[in-house]
Amino acid sequence: MEQMKNIMDIDTVSLDDANSAVVIIDQTKLPETIEIISLKTAQEIWDAIYLLRVRGAPAIGVAAGYGIYVLAKGIETEDYDTFYAEFKKQKDYLNSSRPTAVNLSWALNRMEQVVLNNKDKSVAEIKALLKAESIEIQDEDIRVCKAIGEYGLTLVKPGDGILTHCNAGKLATSKYGTATAPIYLGQEKGYNFRVFADETRPLLQGARLTAFELHSSGVDVTLICDNMSAMVMKNGWVDAVFVGCDRVAANGDAANKIGTSVVAAVAKQYGVPVYICAPTSTIDMNTPTGAEIEIEQRKAEEVTEMWYKERMAPRGVKVFNPAFDVTDHELIAGIVTEFGIARAPYTESLKEIFAKKESSK
Ligand code: MRU
Repeated sequence: MEQMKNIMDIDTVSLDDANSAVVIIDQTKLPETIEIISLKTAQEIWDAIYLLRVRGAPAIGVAAGYGIYVLAKGIETEDYDTFYAEFKKQKDYLNSSRPTAVNLSWALNRMEQVVLNNKDKSVAEIKALLKAESIEIQDEDIRVCKAIGEYGLTLVKPGDGILTHCNAGKLATSKYGTATAPIYLGQEKGYNFRVFADETRPLLQGARLTAFELHSSGVDVTLICDNMSAMVMKNGWVDAVFVGCDRVAANGDAANKIGTSVVAAVAKQYGVPVYICAPTSTIDMNTPTGAEIEIEQRKAEEVTEMWYKERMAPRGVKVFNPAFDVTDHELIAGIVTEFGIARAPYTESLKEIFAKKESSK
């Protein structure tokens, strides 16, 4: 148990190689309790992702990278085929923990590629390469979020009001966040943004996580319920919406926490630009449109009783609880990546972003 420490000084995810564990902040306990937990078994890692102890697309990717490394390390064989068969089994299992955030399969596939590209090496050497790759996934996440922040900062000016939904912050990544990266970088420059954080029903990532981390960092943040965004926009308090995403399709449709598309529709009504902050690891060029993105459905209890002293819905009532929705590309003013800001038409601009990524290698 870790009490009193500033949440910004604690790693969202880290590797404890000496104890063969993935170490995370248990985000289901925030903001009242900061509890650090170690995940060692496949079941513990799977549960932590499924139960949102670690959540947010990039952090899920980092946890999966460390997770599959820790599990691979524990495979006791010198034989490549036996090693790969077990690795694949564990990888497929972790990959089944959540369906929407593409970073999960992106990180696991990247780790699998290390195993496949090094067939000629010993199992011990492959394990060492897996460790290096998992650390690189996290280091890259920090660099990428910073670059997103720098591009995002060009879209706003000092004193602006920024609305965000869910948590695409430091707690969803390794540092800076994606949607919060322009906010943190702006704060370093004295930009004095006024941030509105949607509480984000039903799991309250906006209230429990975004408001917590921004407030802990000294950012001017105001918490609002999800049904208040129209009012703050109509009042002229919001100059831009920055949100993260779990998967961007090749046409620019973006899946993010349920309610994002409502915010985007309201923003259109009031002429507020909506920017999706997306590392290229979240852009899935193999998914043509948002219609093909699998949307996670979650338990009814999250809506009816989870956060209340008493159940707040009649027993037996039907509940619809999708974790994400898809914002149509027409509602998106720009997709902020680590390689620049993609603008409509996204079918073209996202290809250009990936071409830049290729040429940077
Ligand atoms: O269900 P969650 O908490 O994992 O949902 C998180 C989001 O929707 C984030 O906005 C998204 O993953 C981007 S995080 C940089």
